Amino acid sequence: MVTTDKFLLNDWHPVAISKECQINSIKRVRLLGEDLALWRSNSNESTIQVWQDRCPHRGVRISLGKIVDDTIICGYHGWEYNLAGKCVHIPANPKQKPPASAEIKTYQCQERYGLVWVCLGEPAKDVAPFPEWEDSNYRKVLMGPYNCHTSPFRAFENGFDVSHFCFAHEGFVGDSQKAEIEDYEVEVDTNGITVSNLQMWQPDHDGTGVGGKVTYFQRICRVLTLYIVKHTSRGRMIFFFAVTPVSEEECTIWMWIAMNYGQETPDSKLREFQDKLFHQDAVLLESHRPVRLPLCSKNSAEADWPSEVHTQCDRASIAYRRWLKELGITFGVCDNC
Ligand code: FES
Ligand SMILES: [Fe+2]
Repeated sequence: MVTTDKFLLNDWHPVAISKECQINSIKRVRLLGEDLALWRSNSNESTIQVWQDRCPHRGVRISLGKIVDDTIICGYHGWEYNLAGKCVHIPANPKQKPPASAEIKTYQCQERYGLVWVCLGEPAKDVAPFPEWEDSNYRKVLMGPYNCHTSPFRAFENGFDVSHFCFAHEGFVGDSQKAEIEDYEVEVDTNGITVSNLQMWQPDHDGTGVGGKVTYFQRICRVLTLYIVKHTSRGRMIFFFAVTPVSEEECTIWMWIAMNYGQETPDSKLREFQDKLFHQDAVLLESHRPVRLPLCSKNSAEADWPSEVHTQCDRASIAYRRWLKELGITFGVCDNC
C-alpha cells in the first residue's frame, strides 16, 4: 500500500545506480510500498522511464514484458505501451482503439550523483545538494547500497547518532573508554536541522588505521537525506547519505564518501571498512522494538512499547523526531516514545 504522506511522496528518493540501468532492460525496485519498473529504451538511451509495475489489463507485472523500440509489450496478452505509458495496440483486437484507462502510471525521475532518483508525487524541492560532487579535489566512492529490515527513519537516525560509535563500532570509529560526547549545537529551521561542533575521538577514521580527534558537521537537509562533514587531522571526509523508504519496515541505505586526502587508499579498502560498520549496525537496527521510529510521547498505559529514554547527547535525534512529527510523517513511524 503506497503511503499518503505528501512530504514523502513529493520528495526525491534514490532507487538504483544509474549505470546499472542498461538500455533494453527492465529493472524492478520498490519505493514507499509501490512496485516500479525502470527501463531505458533502445532509441531513447539517455532517459530512464519509471512506471508503476502493473499492466492495467489484468494487473500482472509489466516488468515481465519486453522492450521493443520505445514501447513495452506486456508478457501476458501482448498489449503494447508507448513512452507515455499509454496502450497503443491490443493484439487480440487490433482494430479496436485501446481504451483511455489502458494506461500505466508513470513517475518523474532524474539521474544525480550517479544514482536514479524518483519522485512519486510532485517534487517540492530538488535533490539535496552535494557540493563536493563537482570538486575534483575530492575522490568519491559509493558505499553499499545496503538493504536493511527496519524503518527507514530508524536507519536514517542511526546515520547521525555518533554516540553509538563507541560501542557498536568499538575499535573502528569509536572507543568505549573515550565515549563522552561533549555538548554540541543543534539548530532547527524550516528546511531541516544543522548539528555542529560535534566532537569525538576515533581509533580509525576511514579504514586506514589512522585515528584521532574528529569534529562533525551534520546537515539533515531532507527527511531522509543527510550531508556530513568529518574534519580529521588528515583532511575532510564527506558523507552524502540517503535512505530509500522501500516500505514502512524496509529500507536501502546509500552513502557516497568524498575525501580530499588519502588518494592512495584503494576504493576496496574504504568499502571494506564501511561494509563492516554497516554489518555491525544492521544487527542492532533490525532489533529495534518497536521497529518504526517513535515520534511523540504517549501515555505508557496506551503504548504498545515502553517509552524510549532520551539524554543530552540525543538532542539531534529528539529534534529530528519532532521535525518529522511537525511535517505530519506517518509512514514508518509510530506514536510511543
Ligand atoms: S495483463 Fe498485460 S496484456 Fe493482459
Ligand atoms: Fe553505525
